[in-house]
Amino acid sequence: MASEAGAEAGAVPAENVLEWVQKDKKRMLHAVYRVGDLDRTIKFYTECFGMKLLRKRDIPEEKYSNAFLGFGPEETNFVVELTYNYGVDKYDIGTGFGHFAIATEDVYKLVEDIRAKGGNITREPGPVKGGSSVIAFVKDPDGYIFELIQRHPTPEPLCQVMLRVGDLERSIKFYEKALGMKLLRTIDNPAYKYTIAMMGYDDEYKTTVVELTYNYGVTEYTKGNAYAQIAISTEDVYKSAEVVNAVTQELGGKITRQPGPIPGINTKITSFLDPDGWKVVLVDHSDFLKELQKEE
Ligand SMILES: *[C@@H]1O[C@H](CO)[C@@H](O)[C@H](O)[C@H]1NC(C)=O
Repeated sequence: MASEAGAEAGAVPAENVLEWVQKDKKRMLHAVYRVGDLDRTIKFYTECFGMKLLRKRDIPEEKYSNAFLGFGPEETNFVVELTYNYGVDKYDIGTGFGHFAIATEDVYKLVEDIRAKGGNITREPGPVKGGSSVIAFVKDPDGYIFELIQRHPTPEPLCQVMLRVGDLERSIKFYEKALGMKLLRTIDNPAYKYTIAMMGYDDEYKTTVVELTYNYGVTEYTKGNAYAQIAISTEDVYKSAEVVNAVTQELGGKITRQPGPIPGINTKITSFLDPDGWKVVLVDHSDFLKELQKEE
């Protein structure tokens, strides 16, 4: 396993690819997760959150359908990719997955609208404890939590994916080295016994970031079977896989799919689990754009 990715990528020494990863132009593309009723979720996200339905596909041979929703086109914006598996109407979200976040100019107003449309508010709008930013939490029809964050207008309202991790230092190192993400900020909150790290590729007020949460003393979470993965674009899945493979030797995690084209679609991908078992798929950037053009 260890040498396989390296062999496929050619004779590039690990030191060089570890530098290359910092230059690779990556972007967070989408989060993939399963829902029990595609139309119900589409209705909720479009009516309550104001997302747009970007594309939909049905694959009867494989007995599933997908819907892509977001606040802007997939060429520029992070989106959600919903998967509906024929006949499965319930999933276990587990304890590890945290939430998605949506930035809005007026959280109070958005909450009022969502409530009027039958949505469930799990945390009323108001300032963060000990802080000034206004937030609220909403539960979608499958039980996924969305944090609403009051902010100035942003090109990327779908702004965070929060995942819980068992060792924050290890995760920060992994996401920096394996994925070339920047540590944008950390917040330690001893009163509530947690530390968070915001990681991403650009300003967190302009792009989607991963929010990693460490709860003091908690090292294990359940993954359930609802949330699947995030997808990130790369200029080279082969080099990316080589980097990830090298970093997993040091920090844990593993490649779950060697780099190469998906049969039938030809988009080149590679996928792996981070040290906590969170799945990430790396997608060849130009193949991804070709795929979008084909589906239009
Ligand atoms: C709100 O919660 C109730 C009770 O759990 C549930 O029956 C209903 O489907 C939820 N509504 C939405 C839109 O998720």
